[in-house]
Amino acid sequence: MKREQWNSRVGFILAAVGSAIGLGNIWRFPYMAYDNGGGAFFIPYLFAMITAGIPFMIMEFSLGHKIKKTSPRIFAQLGHTLGFRLEWLGWFQVFIAAVIAVYYVAIIGWTLSYLGFSFSQAWGDNPNDFFFNHYLKLGNNSPSHLGEFQIGIAIAMSIAWLMTFMAVFTGVKGGIERANKIMMPMLFIMVLVLIGRIMFLPGALSGLNYLFEPDFSRLLDAQVWSAAYGQIFFTLSVGFAIMLAYSSYLPTKADINNNAFMTVLINCGFSILAGILIFGVLGYMAEEQMKPLTEVVSSGIGLAFVTIPTAINLMPAPYILGPLFFIALVIAGLSSHISIIEAVTSAVIDKFHVRRKPAAVLVCSLGYLVSMAFATNGGLLLLDLVDYFINNIALLLSCLLELVIITWLLKVTVIHQHANENSEFRVGGWFVVCLRFISPAILATILAKNLYNTLVNGYGDYPIADQLFLGWGLVGTMLFFAVLINFTSKSPGYPDQHPGGK
Ligand code: PHE
Ligand code: NA
Repeated sequence: MKREQWNSRVGFILAAVGSAIGLGNIWRFPYMAYDNGGGAFFIPYLFAMITAGIPFMIMEFSLGHKIKKTSPRIFAQLGHTLGFRLEWLGWFQVFIAAVIAVYYVAIIGWTLSYLGFSFSQAWGDNPNDFFFNHYLKLGNNSPSHLGEFQIGIAIAMSIAWLMTFMAVFTGVKGGIERANKIMMPMLFIMVLVLIGRIMFLPGALSGLNYLFEPDFSRLLDAQVWSAAYGQIFFTLSVGFAIMLAYSSYLPTKADINNNAFMTVLINCGFSILAGILIFGVLGYMAEEQMKPLTEVVSSGIGLAFVTIPTAINLMPAPYILGPLFFIALVIAGLSSHISIIEAVTSAVIDKFHVRRKPAAVLVCSLGYLVSMAFATNGGLLLLDLVDYFINNIALLLSCLLELVIITWLLKVTVIHQHANENSEFRVGGWFVVCLRFISPAILATILAKNLYNTLVNGYGDYPIADQLFLGWGLVGTMLFFAVLINFTSKSPGYPDQHPGGK
């Protein structure tokens, strides 16, 4: 079987950007910037982007492009040159992707429901009460007592699954690339239209002042720098098999450095647009409610399903601006979900030598079943707990291991050369310095801090047993199965692979 390929360079970039731009850009980044020094946050953020984001992206694009396989197989092959097994790291990354896939789709389901609600503001005068008590019916549930199955949520999630399934089932060119070529331009246009309207609402500009007003004293706070670094890895979808899979479909003649720069810059540029949009809305809302902005800001799920609906209620033509906002969220989420499912599917294809279509059916139906745990009253709590452990521990661990293996155990100059040989402009020695020294040092620091904090304080108010089983237990199980599956391959390379590979 010949490996599938992207049809065009633009198609590849839009797909990579589609993966990178996700809910995190819209509901996580704006608050993070506001909370970590406003305008001054751009200094650590740009620093993290240049020292970690761009080099990491170049590294993953080079690896995928050079080896033309997915994560487990790439690491198996790298391990082979070192004489020991590394395939498990690839599977650990695939498992991270799989776990994210099953809860991320729940959020896309909620945004689809809210897209429906937004035409008539069905959430009423009290969006907070509506979301928690009428939509989720959260009640007294916990991450391990999920309450009842919610058919409405399940239906919305099924629609999201169906769209992802169709894209991945159809294939790289006709499915994934085509979907992103339609969705990404739509997303940019919708966000620009929203910004264009919101900026003329009273108070919007003062909202922007809050976002951009620099507090340079915060730059002395290590917390601010670690927030910037943590956000960069998550926002770029690097370190969990996705970008490796996408770049493995690049044609032999592809410009690695340029593609990586474009993907990173478009993603980070979009984050700033999203910040302008969200803070414009918050500024308007504060003005209308005659509250200080500091009382209305929020992030994450609260922002999307409580604050924004409240703001939409106050807007002129809410039945237009509301749907526009929620379609944007759906698109941002779906394009990311497609990429995660592709990462898992392509790993299955590579490992078991099955064709795309049965692999997609298998991955999506298993994922579908597991994801139904989130279509419950307590789904939000389970999601929150799992998401914390995945983002703050598993993902950082995976990124750190990947970096150490590639830049310390192997010769990073091979990657560097491969990238430069296949690029119009070359990256210099800073690339090696960032990947060998700066990024691992900072990643290790953040990971150590997160491990310590979580061990000592736990996360949130969740019962200890839930944290042990669903948090630590989950990460441990993922590692365990990754190592186990690693040993199903006879050689440290890959069973059917001629030694050394190509
Ligand atoms: N990059 C995405 C974001 O910022 C994160 C993500 C990508 C999450 C792919 C899951 C899957 O939201
Ligand atoms: Na992103």
